[in-house]
This record gives sequence, C-alpha cells and structure tokens, in this order.
Amino acid sequence: MSTILVADDEKSMVEMLEIMLQREGYEVITAHSTDEAIEKIGKHELDLVISDMKIPKEGGGAVLRASLQRERTRPVIMITAYASAESAVEAMKMGAYDYITKPFDVEKLKLTVKNALEKRGLVLENLNLKKELREKSGIKEMLGNSAALAVVKDLISRVAETNSTVLITGESGTGKELVAKAIHAFSQRSGKPFLSINCGAMPEQLLESEMFGHKKGAFTGAANDKMGLLEVASEGTFFLDEVGEMPLSLQVKLVRAIQEREIRRVGDVKDIKLDVRFIAATNKNLTETVKNGSFREDLFYRLNVVQIELPPLRERKEDIPILARTFLEKFNAQNSRNIQSFSKEAMKMLEDYHWPGNVRELENAIERAVVLEAGQWISPESMPESLRFPSAEALAVSVPTGGIDMELHIGEIEKQMILSALKMAGGSKKEAARLLNMNLRSLRYKLSKYDIK
Ligand SMILES: Nc1ncnc2c1ncn2[C@@H]1O[C@H](COP(=O)(O)OP(=O)(O)OP(=O)(O)O)[C@@H](O)[C@H]1O
Ligand SMILES: [Mg+2]
Repeated sequence: MSTILVADDEKSMVEMLEIMLQREGYEVITAHSTDEAIEKIGKHELDLVISDMKIPKEGGGAVLRASLQRERTRPVIMITAYASAESAVEAMKMGAYDYITKPFDVEKLKLTVKNALEKRGLVLENLNLKKELREKSGIKEMLGNSAALAVVKDLISRVAETNSTVLITGESGTGKELVAKAIHAFSQRSGKPFLSINCGAMPEQLLESEMFGHKKGAFTGAANDKMGLLEVASEGTFFLDEVGEMPLSLQVKLVRAIQEREIRRVGDVKDIKLDVRFIAATNKNLTETVKNGSFREDLFYRLNVVQIELPPLRERKEDIPILARTFLEKFNAQNSRNIQSFSKEAMKMLEDYHWPGNVRELENAIERAVVLEAGQWISPESMPESLRFPSAEALAVSVPTGGIDMELHIGEIEKQMILSALKMAGGSKKEAARLLNMNLRSLRYKLSKYDIK
C-alpha cells in the first residue's frame, strides 16, 4: 500500500483529500503547516507528497525541498490556486513532479496521483535492479559518513551515467581504485569489462603492447598477433592506475586514443575503433609534473575532464569508527575470532593518529590487532607501534613561521605529558614513571619543577 502525505493549512481541503485518497486504497498522513510536514517527511516512509503552495509558514517550496533532500526520486505534487500559473511553473522548476490547480477536478487528481506512484514504482524497481547487480559484481561499499566523502559519493553517482573521462586524485590508500570501480558499477557499462593497468609497474615496451596489442613479428618475442587490453575492454571501462608514471612516448599514443577513439596495435598499419570509458588515478600532483615536463599538458587536460579528489583520512576522522568496526567484522570472520569491539583508549588512538597510509593502513592495523589481541576487546597494546609511539611529525612539532622559545615550549610539552601519564596511571607516581620510561626520582624532581600536585 502506498503512503501519501497531504499538507495544506485548509482543514476542509485536507479532509476531502484524505477521504478521497483513502477510498482509492492509499494510506494518508496529514500535515497543516510546513513545520509539521517537514517533521513527517523525516519520520515516515512516504511514496508521494502532496502540498499546497501557500502553506504557512514557509510555503510549499520548503516542503518540496525537504522531500527532495530526503529522497530525490520521490514525487511531489503541488496544489496551486487557479490564478497563479507562475507559482506552478516555479514549483516545476524546483523539481515538483506535477501540479494541480484549485478547485480541482477529482478524476484528474486521481489520475495524476496514480501516474506519480506508477513512475515511482518503476524508479524503485530500477534502483533495486542496479543494486542487485552491484552486489553480485562484488563491489564494496564506500564506507563513511563524513561530509567530504558525501561530496565524493555524489560526484560518483553523477559522473557514472556519463561517458566523461575522470581523474581521481588522492594520497596512497585513500580509495582511488574503489572509486573507479564504483563509477563503472553505477554506469551503463557495468555489464561490460572493467580492466586496469598500473602505468608505473612495467617497462615501457611491455606496457605499450599490453595496452595497445601488437602484430606478429612487431618486435623480438612477438610470436603472434596479440589483442591489447584496451580492445579487450571494449564497451567497458579502462582504469589507468598511477597515470603520472606513464612514459612520455606512451602519453602521445594515449592522447590519440582518448581524442580520436582509435588505436593501433604495435607494428600494425590499420586503426581500430575504440569504445571505452577512461578513468585515471594518481597520487602525484599532475600540475607539478606538467610544469617539470614529465607529463604532457594535452593529456592532463584530456584526463582532467572531471576530477574527483579523495581527502586523506586524517581530514575526515569521523569516518574512522565505522571503517574500523567494519574491518573488525571482516577480520573476525577471516580469523574465526569473535572480538567484540574496541576499548575506548584504542578507539581514541585510531582517531588521533594521522594515517599517512590512509584507509589501507587502517585496514592493516585492524587486521594485525585482530590477530594479536588475546582479549574480547581490541586494546592499545595490540595496536601497531606507529600508533602507540607517534613520531614528532605526528605530534605536529614544528617551528612556527615567527619562531619559537624552544626551551619553554618543550617544558610545556613535558608538563602535559607528565599530567597525561599521571591521569592514565590513576594518580600512581610509580606507574606514571614507568609509562614515561623514567625513574621515580626524576619524576618527583619534574613534579616539583612544574609545580604539579
Ligand atoms: N571508504 C572506504 N570504505 C571501505 N573501504 C575502503 C574505503 N576507502 C578505501 N578502502 C579500502 O582501502 C584499501 C585501499 O583502497 P584503494 O586501493 O582503492 O586505494 P588507492 O587510493 O588506490 O591506493 P594507492 O594509491 O596506494 O593505489 C582497499 O582495500 C579499499 O577497499
Ligand atoms: Mg590504487
């Protein structure tokens, strides 16, 4: 049964619509102001929203926006006064599915509602099919709820439907390959191959013949004709990993492939038509490599049609808990372990660390912890050394531009460390001294020096 929200401040109108729609077999929820409507949009699973354009306080536009924000594909029908064609046009521009004018023709209203729900059914079915396909193809979900990652996910879904070349940039281990696979999986090409090549991993000649293929006898060792990966990827997606490492001579061939959509096997004289979507990734700053001459500017512009930048994990720390928990589940299963969760201190360590190797490093750290941990909870002791003993760099110790009074600064750091050790030790000086790897006498001396009681 479909559920419909009817929002209008005019009580008789709401009642009339409610009775009529219920008679058609729909479940009806009502609201009499924008606040109430928005609250109910957040609370209920709705299939359709019908709202008056002039509903107080903020008007039907606010209801429309709230509904679209929550679910982009849910239809919203606006009710407008007969005289006001303008506001109807505006509602349509804002993304309303349709509008009906007051006083309305009951039959026409029923039909509009029926069509809107039918269309929604089709959209949902289509989304479900796509989701099923993705799950079958084993595509991993991009985990994380940070705003930064939401921007990335939004870009993925928008760019997937197009054929645009995409350049994915970001530090090592941020998920560039995962993004490339997601774009393919969400695209019309998802039933076709996704192939990739690491442009920095093999010698130039081999890379060339792998990508473009070769004719028999094109070079010593070319005993047969060979199809290149670009041809094999026909109608699918081709992922150029570490594209910044590609040798200059091959860059010329790649520009031609992208621009003319034609390739030629090594040693061949005829061209082959190419239908692939290119996605490239790099952890280098390509603008720099263009400046120093190791990357062609024309190739850079061809690749950089849409750029997706993956932020480092340290800039989206709110993603760490969900990633850590998911990895914990994964490695629990792989190692037949049943570790419940992370101790508070261990989780804090994960959140405080600067993760130069990003998500991959986090994944490795959790795998190691699962293997080493003897208890029910992951404790700080099973964390890698890099987390337990952060380097000076990780502690962000650097001289500010204006200079610094080093002695004073180090004194302050020393004082804070002692306080923190005392706290961890529950006030025990002996234990604090142990944590700080100093003897009790030195600790006592420092305590009096810094006037710590
Ligand atoms: N948001 C995420 N959710 C779940 N897993 C992730 C996420 N981001 C990255 N990963 C995982 O982290 C690992 C590294 O990701 P990936 O190989 O895509 O990174 P990369 O940017 O290509 O790294 P490199 O530059 O080193 O090649 C993979 O196992 C990937 O599945
Ligand atoms: Mg990679």
